[in-house]
Amino acid sequence: MWDLFNSENKKHKRVWTKLTSKLVLPFKYSSSFNPEKTYLLIGCLGGLGRSMSKWIFTRGARKFLFMGRSGLERAVARSFVGDLKAKGAEVTVVKGDVANFSDVTNAVSQVNGPLGGVIQAAMGLSESLFTSITHQQWHTAVTPKVLGTWNVHNAIKDRENELDFFLMTSSISGSVGVATETNYCASNYFLDVFARYRRSAGLPAKSIGLGMISQTGYLHEHPDIQNGLTLKGVSAIDADDFLQIIDAALSAPLNDASDPELDQLCESHMLTGLEPIGLNKLRQRGFEGIPATFDDPRAALLNDALAGGSDGTSNVLASGLPEDLMKAIQDGEPVFESVLALIAKQFSNFLLTPVDDLDTSKPLAGFGMDSMLAAAVRSWFYRKFKLDVAFMTLLSQTLSIRDLANSVTEHVLKQSHEK
Ligand SMILES: NC(=O)c1ccc[n+]([C@@H]2O[C@H](COP(=O)([O-])OP(=O)(O)OC[C@H]3O[C@@H](n4cnc5c(N)ncnc54)[C@H](OP(=O)(O)O)[C@@H]3O)[C@@H](O)[C@H]2O)c1
Repeated sequence: MWDLFNSENKKHKRVWTKLTSKLVLPFKYSSSFNPEKTYLLIGCLGGLGRSMSKWIFTRGARKFLFMGRSGLERAVARSFVGDLKAKGAEVTVVKGDVANFSDVTNAVSQVNGPLGGVIQAAMGLSESLFTSITHQQWHTAVTPKVLGTWNVHNAIKDRENELDFFLMTSSISGSVGVATETNYCASNYFLDVFARYRRSAGLPAKSIGLGMISQTGYLHEHPDIQNGLTLKGVSAIDADDFLQIIDAALSAPLNDASDPELDQLCESHMLTGLEPIGLNKLRQRGFEGIPATFDDPRAALLNDALAGGSDGTSNVLASGLPEDLMKAIQDGEPVFESVLALIAKQFSNFLLTPVDDLDTSKPLAGFGMDSMLAAAVRSWFYRKFKLDVAFMTLLSQTLSIRDLANSVTEHVLKQSHEK
């Protein structure tokens, strides 16, 4: 849709005119941007940043100041900036590292006229289990978000009264956690809390915990990671929905003081990406992953929505054993291989490793089993088989997937005999 809107192609323009002459629904949210103000966009020559900037242009902004380490080195950034300029925007690109305070002050000094808003979208990724993460890996993710955001906050001190918004692109992982991305999770959680801090000081701030975005952005460019998240039960939203989220975030009032019972700072954070309907659909298509989120008591309402099947579906999370396994147990057939396959598939989800590459006789310790992973594994075993596998057993140096399959087989057969 946005491509049609922005296209210079005559045929596209005709299609757009036809479409808009029929569509009568107004925009649900109504963020608009001031053509006289400059928007400071950090990390916005990346995937999501380009989508947001294009959209900001369509809602009135005309002055853009982009900051990133590679500036216009990438062809995609050059062509994007060229397009914006051709449409009449005034665009400045400052090469710099948001973690370097003098780079940030240099960028801010180039703001032409009042500063309308800031988007802090810089990110670095380096995956590793917490037990093996290096100092450098930790800082790859933490520095651009934590130090970078402090730098921006300090560099715009004298211009706060001009600002309409200070938006930080956080992630769902700041709220729910991913075992191999503790550095990224911590960085995003920092953004969520930093937004509260700014709000408490009467300054604009919003941190959006984004889920997985398809069609644009880092995950779109790395389908292997996207597939891994899908297997964990994280459902993606498309580029249009992503922009609606940004629109909703920027349209919300700065402070809603109408209800004194409410947390007055709660508007500072918006969490998205935990859509139960999307998860239900994924699970109906056979995905086994259950985000650890659903074990958290704070997710009770979401769990209820799943259990109630608010979209008319049944509670797929509580489905327990697959039907063919249940039938094999009832018919007295051998079940070890089915149990082993089920457990191996779940471990491939947990470890983001194709199931065919898993050596089921290898001790779990060799897969980097740590306490965080053990906690997730333990709760899965309980949910799936009503079997409580001791924490220390999972952390032992010798236990393999095959050993676990043996214990589970014994357990399910014993249970079926007792019934
Ligand atoms: N894509 C998703 O599905 C998703 C989901 C949840 C949250 N998010 C969040 O959305 C934001 C944008 O993500 P994306 O998918 O658009 O990623 P992206 O394409 O990798 O863009 C990130 C940008 O950050 C810039 N950057 C990195 N380190 C920087 C630094 N030290 N100083 C200045 N700029 C820096 C990079 O440019 P240079 O390399 O040139 O510096 C790059 O343009 C991130 O904050 C991410 O955490 C994305």
